[in-house]
Amino acid sequence: MGPTSYRDVRLITMAITVLSNVSETRAHLNTARKEKPGNVVLVPTMGALHEGHAQLVRQARELAGDEGTVVVSIFVNPTQFGPNEDLDRYPRALERDTEVCQACGADLIFAPASAEVYTPDHSLDVRETVLSTGLCGASRVGHFPGVCLVVLKLLNIVQPTHAVFGKKDYQQLAVIRRMVRNLNVPIEIVGGETVREEDGLAMSSRNANLSEAERQAAPGIQAALQAGRERWEKQPDIAPGLLVRLVRSRLEQISSGQIDYLELVDGETLQSVQGIIDKPVVMASAMFFSKARLIDNIEFGPKA
Ligand code: PAF
Repeated sequence: MGPTSYRDVRLITMAITVLSNVSETRAHLNTARKEKPGNVVLVPTMGALHEGHAQLVRQARELAGDEGTVVVSIFVNPTQFGPNEDLDRYPRALERDTEVCQACGADLIFAPASAEVYTPDHSLDVRETVLSTGLCGASRVGHFPGVCLVVLKLLNIVQPTHAVFGKKDYQQLAVIRRMVRNLNVPIEIVGGETVREEDGLAMSSRNANLSEAERQAAPGIQAALQAGRERWEKQPDIAPGLLVRLVRSRLEQISSGQIDYLELVDGETLQSVQGIIDKPVVMASAMFFSKARLIDNIEFGPKA
């Protein structure tokens, strides 16, 4: 199913509405706000929803309460994919996604076609210039400008009081928080905990692109990061460089994958940690497999 196949979707069931058009979505939400004056909580997604997304939708439902509205956007955003990335391979499953959203208490799905979001005269760039340059931003040039652009558009279309983003994309969450603060967007950004498979692998739509052998090896990413946190717990004054080397050597044992990056960064500034670990930090990694690039992270350090 291609990205434009969501065009003209307008399926109204008892409990959930699916809209693909911006003005219809705005009109629908204006009515909803009058009927239910509580929070409007947006969960932006690219679809192919898994339990990690389901958890974000449930979190949104709690934030919205009975008097509020939960909106899930489903849009595989072309501007955040590089030319050699997996835009065409990205899984699309609107029917199943609708069931997941409905089961988790969402009220509305906004699933636009690409042409609805990006009009032919589109000529705007939204670029965060500090937090988005390292980690994933270093190897995915253009990714965060694409994310910022689409998220800002979604926030303007839905005008929510809150938006929920998963902490698996730790850098994305930090960049969006910064964008919203810098642009005075009147909205609260809420982080949702990473949901994992039983063996520790972070849930991701991209896990479906792993071969069987890669799937077996991939939980090693979180195991390596956890080993790093445990080592810091035993030796809080360990040099950050040594800690990164120890974790890197564990990641290198995942022979079916290749490390894109492994870094220990300040949890707020995302700058590389020097000296001792005296603030909350994040150890974040990305690994390439044959048809998927997986990211994961772990937070530790003295509490702020
Ligand atoms: O995290 C994602 O799924 C995407 O980056 C987002 C936030 C929906 C923007 O396209």
